[in-house]
Amino acid sequence: MNPVELIRKKRDGFQLTEEEINYLILRYTRGKIPSYQISALLMAGFLNGFDAKETAWLTRSMLYSGKIINLKSVKGKKIDKHSTGGVGDKTSLILAPIVAAAGVNVPMISGRGLGHTGGTLDKLEAIPGFLTNIDLSKYKSILKKCGAVLIGQTKEIAPADKLIYALRDVTATVESIPFITASIMSKKLAEGIDGLVLDVKTGTGAFMKSYDDSAALANSLTNTARAFNKKVITYITDMNQPLGNYIGNWLEVYESIKVLQGEKVDDLLELSLHLSGAMIHLGNKAKSIPQGIEIAKEMISSGKALNKFLEIVKLQGGDTYYLKNLDKYPKSKIHEKIFADKPGYVNKIDSFEIGIASVELGGGRLEMEDKIDPKAGIIFYPKIGMQIKKGDLIAEIFTNKTGAVDHVKKKLSASITITNKKAEPVKLIKSVNTYK
Ligand code: URA
Repeated sequence: MNPVELIRKKRDGFQLTEEEINYLILRYTRGKIPSYQISALLMAGFLNGFDAKETAWLTRSMLYSGKIINLKSVKGKKIDKHSTGGVGDKTSLILAPIVAAAGVNVPMISGRGLGHTGGTLDKLEAIPGFLTNIDLSKYKSILKKCGAVLIGQTKEIAPADKLIYALRDVTATVESIPFITASIMSKKLAEGIDGLVLDVKTGTGAFMKSYDDSAALANSLTNTARAFNKKVITYITDMNQPLGNYIGNWLEVYESIKVLQGEKVDDLLELSLHLSGAMIHLGNKAKSIPQGIEIAKEMISSGKALNKFLEIVKLQGGDTYYLKNLDKYPKSKIHEKIFADKPGYVNKIDSFEIGIASVELGGGRLEMEDKIDPKAGIIFYPKIGMQIKKGDLIAEIFTNKTGAVDHVKKKLSASITITNKKAEPVKLIKSVNTYK
């Protein structure tokens, strides 16, 4: 086969065969095809699309560029959740211990913050000592001991995705439904899971802003998971406002612990219970999602989920002191408050800008090598539909970066649209589809 011919074929809008896709991906992973040719192929694919078959072949090829973890020796069902990314979305930290406490294994391979969105690994690393780069044998042994483990992508897992993701990032080819599908699913399928709950976000803080685009991504992810015989429950959920109130790595751990302690953080609790309930149902510990939700509530009220979280942290090398003494965590040098400058109703929230503000305070990376400040972030109080008075507290910021403060304060004030007319509160869960 000749890479130039295959690039031309995709450039001219034709379907590539499974063998052709395998040839390109596997040879690229082995360093036998240069990046400039794969970049050209990516742009041709971005513009002309990959159909459902090509997407499944691409996923398969990226998956088999590495290992599929064999979890047969771990008793019981193994179910994971994947979110397409948002602002303040800390549900993984809440649902992993809930679902493990309910007797369903949760082997989770997570990512770091990407653009304006936070990443589970960065959040967990806000806990001193917590290790996310664990080898596969330790991964299995932790899963066997406590029913949940949360790590990052290792070099054995979907190495083609690691290479191609880096190329997409610098060739303006990230926002492609087939590429996002293959990237996410090649990693999730490598986990050795029986089923997957998908949380596809839609709105101002999501990668897909419109409902139609989110629905198309949800379809593509679901079809690919089903092509690999996985049970799937797919949610489309709102990301027009941050989930919960805390944004930033330690702040999100803090809010997760509060939820596990039984605090009722409306939207965050509702979504965490739904996703946990769906996972418990897929793991055959509940006959339906509502029954799974009842079990999830019990795991919180009995304290079992919180204890499970502490167990996971200990097994992954983390220090549980601050989780038991939340107010003792080191503080940022700067803590400032932002107040509403006019009265009215919150009509719209630009969650993308809030995510970027958190990154600028030190909670994310502006460049690949940047070190994250785990303490940095935002507590953001408004929700769409809420009435506010002039002078009400709308946000608190935490940072060590003196130079970022004025800019971020302006950005946060501008991120909410206040009008005289009351807006309807947003519907958090837009759709749920089960494929068992
Ligand atoms: N997350 C991934 O792992 N890959 C993408 O392409 C987008 C989000």
